[in-house]
Amino acid sequence: MNKKYRKAIIAGNWKMNKLPSESRAFVEELKPLLPRSKKKVCEVILCMPYPFIPIAQRGSKEKRLALGAQDVSAHDSGAFTGEVSAAMLKDIGCKYCIVGHSERRQYHGETDSEVNTKVHKLLEAGISPIICVGESLEQREKELTLDFVAYQVKAAIAGLGPKEIKRCVIAYEPIWAIGTGKTATADQAAEVCNGIRAVIRSMYDARVARSVSILYGGSMNPSNCAELLSKPDIDGGLIGGASLKVADLAFMINATADGAAGEDEGEAE
Ligand code: 13P
Repeated sequence: MNKKYRKAIIAGNWKMNKLPSESRAFVEELKPLLPRSKKKVCEVILCMPYPFIPIAQRGSKEKRLALGAQDVSAHDSGAFTGEVSAAMLKDIGCKYCIVGHSERRQYHGETDSEVNTKVHKLLEAGISPIICVGESLEQREKELTLDFVAYQVKAAIAGLGPKEIKRCVIAYEPIWAIGTGKTATADQAAEVCNGIRAVIRSMYDARVARSVSILYGGSMNPSNCAELLSKPDIDGGLIGGASLKVADLAFMINATADGAAGEDEGEAE
């Protein structure tokens, strides 16, 4: 199985929830529930609002948990009121940053070209982008999903070399499944994640494509995660609502780690 060439990942996207003072306690509560395997079988990422990150980080020597942000400026520095640069995120210990989330595209007018610029800025700063793509319900009903998602992926990663794309994570998040309780079926999600890998393969090659982690996001929770994760091209989840509860998040992390630890030879890319 080619999952051995890439990381299994569970990333929580807290969006604009909780308070900075709650983040540290959450991390402390989560720590003892993380997989104990000596081998790192699942990368665990918490993408928090900016002010939480140094607080969640403080005093934590937890190597099994990486912190991430939810957006980054497309600019390096200067007169951009309210913006936070990739260098600033690096300086406070961010390893990952979400870009192109549908909520930023929808409510903040983020364009494909801005997403691409942000991806480049993050990589230059040494941060791995978690690039979100996904179709609307209307696009799905018109059977435009695969073409639209392929377009978004190509636009987001334009200009990246093979070494750079290997440092990116792609999250397939159908807009109609986000926060609605409507999950894509495992087959629907698998079809699109497979399509995303095919796009990367066509732009680079099979070796590069098999090393990029592709996540599913959209109402993922403890009861549907195992089926989604059983699909060969789904390497983990980007989780909103269910990542706000320690027990639910820990359940999904352990389910992913168990699946990854059980991975072996012999499956399609
Ligand atoms: P929900 O898990 O709340 O549907 O959110 C998914 C998401 O948008 C993660 O980025």
